[in-house]
Amino acid sequence: PRIVTTHVLNEMKLRGEKISMLTAYDYSMARIVDQAGIDVILVGDSASNVMAGHKSTLPITLDQMIYHAQSVVRAAKRALVVVDMPFGAYQGNSKEAVSSAIRIMKETGAQAIKMEGGEEIIESMHRILSAGIPVMGHLGLTPQSIHKFGTYVVRAKEEAEAKKLVEDAKLLEKTGCFSIVLEKIPAKLAKEVTDNSKIPMIGIGAGADVDGQVLVLHDMLGITQDFSPRFLRRYHNLFAEISGSVEAYVEDVKEQRFPNEKEQY
Ligand code: KIV
Ligand code: NA
Repeated sequence: PRIVTTHVLNEMKLRGEKISMLTAYDYSMARIVDQAGIDVILVGDSASNVMAGHKSTLPITLDQMIYHAQSVVRAAKRALVVVDMPFGAYQGNSKEAVSSAIRIMKETGAQAIKMEGGEEIIESMHRILSAGIPVMGHLGLTPQSIHKFGTYVVRAKEEAEAKKLVEDAKLLEKTGCFSIVLEKIPAKLAKEVTDNSKIPMIGIGAGADVDGQVLVLHDMLGITQDFSPRFLRRYHNLFAEISGSVEAYVEDVKEQRFPNEKEQY
């Protein structure tokens, strides 16, 4: 099967072929997702919530993101692997931002990094791009700024914020991002941004008129239970499936049905 590169994603936009993207944080899941034919695997800083149980994405460290990314890269044979720059690894100064991005590229073998924000992080983004590192942008609801927003409600409903988002998308494209994630913004605004850009826009809670879709794997599989925004389609209830298996195992052990005669030496 064809290997996905940033150039392939660009061609997909031009052809009108939608881009599929999911998160993964470990080898076993990434292997399944890659073999099932996903285009892009995001090592998201949502690992902070999903893997580590934190209430936000802020606590996860660069070292922890690198550990997750190394595991995913070992599994991905076909998909493009994009790694989130964690909070604190690029907002401070642009020199630190390039060092963080270089560490991710060098130590993990991933193909790209992702950064949240527009004009306010442009200097860092420019330096990273100058180092030859592909950058995916992320606009709209940017979870690393949750304490500024106060809530996880839909962003850019008001005209001023929508206008800034349109300008930021143009700026990121001009600066050289190969793609942008649009998170939780009105579908109409996402369509406008998508129609006016040459780089692929990947939506999450941004409607159907974008170039691709991304979801958090553990959310779409129904492993996480306490998160059900409107945009989340659950393809399975893995929480219940896994629970059932664990309950059956516990019972088998207690009732001495496991192991049986064939399951021993
Ligand atoms: O960290 C993450 O999972 C993300 C996606 C939701 C886009 O940034
Ligand atoms: Na993220």
